[in-house]
Amino acid sequence: MTGRFDGKVVLVTGAGSGIGQAAALRFADEGASVAVLDIRPELAALTTMMIEKEHEDHALALAADVADATEVDTAVDLAAHEFGRLDVVYNNAGIMELGSVAETDEQRWDRVLAVHAKGTYLVSRAAGEHMGEGGSIVNQGSVAALVGVAHLAAYSAAKGAIVALTRAMAADLAPRGIRVNAICPGTCHTPMTEPLFRTRGEGDVEAGVAATVPRYPLGRLGTAEDIAAVACFLASDEASFMTGAVVTSDGGMTAV
Ligand SMILES: NC(=O)c1ccc[n+]([C@@H]2O[C@H](COP(=O)([O-])OP(=O)(O)OC[C@H]3O[C@@H](n4cnc5c(N)ncnc54)[C@H](O)[C@@H]3O)[C@@H](O)[C@H]2O)c1
Repeated sequence: MTGRFDGKVVLVTGAGSGIGQAAALRFADEGASVAVLDIRPELAALTTMMIEKEHEDHALALAADVADATEVDTAVDLAAHEFGRLDVVYNNAGIMELGSVAETDEQRWDRVLAVHAKGTYLVSRAAGEHMGEGGSIVNQGSVAALVGVAHLAAYSAAKGAIVALTRAMAADLAPRGIRVNAICPGTCHTPMTEPLFRTRGEGDVEAGVAATVPRYPLGRLGTAEDIAAVACFLASDEASFMTGAVVTSDGGMTAV
């Protein structure tokens, strides 16, 4: 593995599980010190332990709800203070609520929009205070922002907001040399998508996976590592002329 992030400090939200955990491990393997933020402290601690096993003093666990301004400001300040700088933010934290508009109550709608859209705004605002000139922000979108997916109304709206926000932030932050890009992953098998598979498979997760795979021309679902690799690329200097880009990593799902 090359050291694309040697000496850099990376903040990953939702880093206690799934894609965020895979990205945190990969950033660390490539030389970064990683601030591992998650709403569940025990999950943040787990990822931090996994990193520290290989890379001592390269991880810091942060417990915060990305939708809470005070918690976000405190956590981001702590990360910047502990590691002395902040170069990369991966706004990855997310939740999925299944349901059409008719099936989604107001409380769930508000929470999904808050975690994704407000969370991306709050973490980026706090991180921007510490990022100086240069750096990179990667926002987590979804194919649900690009094509219609049934029974995912609030989630799709939230991811659409993230894609639009990515372009607006790219325009605002370009003068500071901060690049802002979004990834739109296709379906990966993580704890977040278990309920989706269970619904599609009428109670049987494996049947739900089997029902989902045909939507993907490459004939498989994504892995957390597939998406983490794209996040690391976008965050790295190899993507130095990319900003405001919305990059799919979806096995061809949105191409057909
Ligand atoms: N898995 C997929 O198929 C898929 C596809 C497209 C996009 N995504 C997006 O990728 C991101 C990661 O998803 P995943 O599949 O790895 O899910 P996951 O459930 O495995 O991980 C999400 C993590 O975010 C944390 N989290 C949730 N709400 C939070 C909050 N308010 N503040 C801080 N942390 C919070 C959770 O505790 C969890 O550790 C999400 O934004 C998701 O919408 C996932």
